[in-house]
Amino acid sequence: MAKYKIGWMPGDGIGIDVMQAAKIVLDRLGFDAEYVHGDIGWEIWRTEANALPDRTLAMLETVDAALFGAITSKPKEEAERELIPALQGKGHVYRSPIVALRQTFDLRTNLRPCKAYPGNPLNYRDDLDLVVFRQNTEDLYMGIEWHPLPAAIRAEFLKTHPKQMGRLAKVADEDIAASVRLLTRQACQAICRDAFEYAKKFGYKSVTVVEKPNVIRETSGLMVREARKIAKDYPGVELWETNIDAMCMWLIKNPQDYGVLVASNMFGDIISDLCAQLVGGLGFACSGNIGDKVAIFEPSHGSAPKYVGMNKVNPIAMILSAKMMLDHLGEKDMATRLENAVAAVIKEGRYRTYDMGGTTTTTGMAEAIAARL
Ligand code: NAI
Ligand code: MG
Repeated sequence: MAKYKIGWMPGDGIGIDVMQAAKIVLDRLGFDAEYVHGDIGWEIWRTEANALPDRTLAMLETVDAALFGAITSKPKEEAERELIPALQGKGHVYRSPIVALRQTFDLRTNLRPCKAYPGNPLNYRDDLDLVVFRQNTEDLYMGIEWHPLPAAIRAEFLKTHPKQMGRLAKVADEDIAASVRLLTRQACQAICRDAFEYAKKFGYKSVTVVEKPNVIRETSGLMVREARKIAKDYPGVELWETNIDAMCMWLIKNPQDYGVLVASNMFGDIISDLCAQLVGGLGFACSGNIGDKVAIFEPSHGSAPKYVGMNKVNPIAMILSAKMMLDHLGEKDMATRLENAVAAVIKEGRYRTYDMGGTTTTTGMAEAIAARL
């Protein structure tokens, strides 16, 4: 029997290409795993009216970790139109399988390491090593929203916030859209704890909590207050507090000063894309969605329909996601070997995919990395 059971979900488009590339390096590493395929994404939606079938959820219950490529998603009306004829007109509504995965398995932590590997022509600077911890399940992305604003909600708002809502007395319900920003103490504590644990384990000297507590007093305030409490347990790691807007500025001005960053869902989303771009963009942006039951590792990019079937995109984001999975499983030695091989190929500069200004193919890059293992 293999040592690990790994969920294998290529999804759509270039997700399939980059997963093949990851397989090349994992096999060369000698990673001892049984891979179990999981259907997910657009093709499955078209033929089953569910982009994340129950059999995939059941599979994920049984694995040690999972790798995921990318999926295609489209707006509601288009999704309905692309269903096979037998499924049309039955009121099926497209739901993002990624959001569903996060919610079903409570993948509360989104981890995005953004390290600049020297020699990458896309680096903003060569001395960056940022790690973003983004709370993955709450905040404005929970989908608690209204448009138009229901009368009952309006009445409630008017009771609790007479000044603010009073000003809107003349605005009709159908002219008001509202989204709820909801954070729980438990989730704030968990994400801050994860960030500090990581900083301690991998030797980062600071954790920066990125919020806006001076304006969003209750939710951002909760996150910052919990961060302060947790920081007390980690005397070797400094807690820095920065507002989201200022953080975007500092990340351009002095990104080398920062280490671990922690934020609620939307602010974390914003800074993780910013940080990814500092170290090469989508071709390098790896991520992990981590819960207590299962962890799913994926590149941050989507299915890039433009490049489907061209064996052209950069597989490094996917390969670094596989490296994160190895770290997560405690296979430190393999993770380090894999990262060193990626770093060596980038430094050498002989193999470069199109985004790096070269002509190396997806499989060509994977083979170059495998050859250095
Ligand atoms: P995308 O990330 O698929 O691609 C945008 C552009 O980024 C590409 O056209 C390409 O120029 C570049 N790019 C992406 N991955 C690359 C790689 N590995 N190497 C080199 N260049 C790369 O985003 P887009 O075009 O907005 O979305 C396409 C589809 O993917 C949509 O259906 C969207 O909903 C979905 N999507 C899925 C995600 C996921 O599966 N996690 C995340 C983002 C988008
Ligand atoms: Mg994003």
